[in-house]
Amino acid sequence: MNKANVLLGLQWGDEGKGKVVDVLTPSYDIICRFQGGPNAGHTLEFNGIKHVLNTIPSGIFHPHCTNIIGNGVVIDPVILKREIDALIKMGVDIKKQLLISKRAHLILPTHRLLDAASEAAKGKEKIGSTLKGIGPTYMDKTGRNGLRVGDVSGNQFKEKYQSLVEKHKQLLAFHKFEYNLTELEPAWFEAIEDLKKLTHIDSEYYINEALKKGKKILAEGAQGSMLDVDFGTYPFVTSSNTMTAGCCTGLGIAPNAVGNVIGIFKAYCTRVGGGPFPTELNDEVGETMRKIGNEYGSTTGRARRCGWLDLPALKYAIMINGVTELTMMKADVLDDFDSIKVCTHYMVNGEKTEQLPFDITHADIKPVYKELKGWKQNCTLAQSLPDALLHYIQFIEQETGVPISIVSVGPDRKQTIVLKKEPFVNS
Ligand code: GDP
Ligand code: IMO
Ligand code: MG
Repeated sequence: MNKANVLLGLQWGDEGKGKVVDVLTPSYDIICRFQGGPNAGHTLEFNGIKHVLNTIPSGIFHPHCTNIIGNGVVIDPVILKREIDALIKMGVDIKKQLLISKRAHLILPTHRLLDAASEAAKGKEKIGSTLKGIGPTYMDKTGRNGLRVGDVSGNQFKEKYQSLVEKHKQLLAFHKFEYNLTELEPAWFEAIEDLKKLTHIDSEYYINEALKKGKKILAEGAQGSMLDVDFGTYPFVTSSNTMTAGCCTGLGIAPNAVGNVIGIFKAYCTRVGGGPFPTELNDEVGETMRKIGNEYGSTTGRARRCGWLDLPALKYAIMINGVTELTMMKADVLDDFDSIKVCTHYMVNGEKTEQLPFDITHADIKPVYKELKGWKQNCTLAQSLPDALLHYIQFIEQETGVPISIVSVGPDRKQTIVLKKEPFVNS
C-alpha cells in the first residue's frame, strides 16, 4: 500500500503552497484538500496566467490529476460555484477532475453573518478573520448541528437548513447584528443546485482504495502551522487543525499511511490579520519586503505584516508536523538586502529560550538575531544559486536538521529550483 505525502505551510499561511502543489502535481495522481475552506487563497502562475484557488485543490490544472475536497474542508457553495465557473472557462473538465466528500460541511450565509457579528463584538481584540464563516461552520460541526454535502440531495435538506438558520437568527439577535438574509439566500440555493450536479463520494474509501492500488496522493494543507487551532498563536488562529494530523481526520488517512511531509516556509515571515508576530518589522525593512514580495492577500487584498525568519517558530512547526523535507519560498524577495537577519532564540521575560511561550500574545518576547550576508544578486536569473544564498540554505538546514529540497525564486511554475531529488526520511 502506498503512503500519502502531505504538503503544508509552516508559518502563518500564504507560504506559496498553491505554487508548489502545482509544480509537484505531475508526480501525483490525486491531490486532496483536507481542512480549511475559502479562507484560503492559493496562487498559481504559469504561461502568463495567474490564478487563485480558494476551495479547489491546486492540482486542478493538470488534466491527468483527480482533485478531492476532503471531509475536513468547509465549503461555501457560492464561492465554489464561482471557482468552478472560472475553471470551466479555462477548459478544465470539472466533472471528471473534481470529487467532493459527502462529509464535508457547508458554510451557510448565516455562518458568514455570525463571523462578522463575532468579530464586531471582539472590537480591538478581533482575530482579523477573513469573514468567510469558517469559525461558525466548524463550531456547528463540533456542536453536531452542521449540514453536509451529502445532505443536499436528501428530502429533509430545506427543513434542516431552516432549523439551523433559526438557531443562527437567535445568536445574531443576541449580538444585535443587523443583516438582510433574503438578499443572500437566492445565490446560496442556486449554488446548491450546482453543487448537486458535482460528483459526491465517500472520500475515505476512495482515497484508501487508491492508495492500495498504488496511486500517488498528495494532501494539500491550507493556512499554516502557526494558525493551527491547537498549536498556533491561540486565540489568533483559524478553526481547524492545519497540521499533518489534520490530514488524518480530514481525509480518513491513517497515521501510518502518511509518508513524506513537505513543509513550506518563506525565506522571511508574513502574517495577515491580528495576533502576535515576534519578528515583525514595523519599519522600512518590513515595508521593502511587502513591496518586493507583493505581500497583499490573494483573496482579501489585505496588506500582510512582514518580518525576519523565526527559527524557534519554524522548528516548532517542523516538530509537530514530522516534516521530512523543506521548501523555501520567495528567496528572490531578499535579493537586494545587504544583510539578512534570522531569529535564533527569544528572550522571554529576560530569559533566553528556543521555546514558544504558552501565552505568546502577552509574553514579553524579544527576538535574538543572527546576521548573515545577503547575496545582492538576482537569484531568479542566476545560472546557479549565489554562494550567500547557499549559505543561508545550509544554515537553516543545520539549525532545523531537515533538508531543503526545493527553493522557489519567483511566482511562476518555472521559477523553481530542485536541490535534492531523494526525499529525506526521519529516523
Ligand atoms: P498559499 O496560500 O500558501 O498558496 O500562498 P499565496 O498564494 O496566498 O501567496 C503566495 C504569493 O507569493 C502568491 O502571490 C504567489 O504567486 C507568490 N509566490 C510564490 N512563490 C514565490 C516566489 O518564489 N517568489 C515570489 N516573488 N513570489 C512567489
Ligand atoms: P492560505 O491557505 C493567511 C488568517 C486570517 C486570520 C485568522 C483567522 O491562503 O495560506 P479565519 O478566516 O480562518 O477565521 O481567519 O487566520 N488566515 C489566513 N492567513 N493565509 C490563509 O490561508 C489564511 N486563512 C486564514 O487572516 O488572522
Ligand atoms: Mg494564501
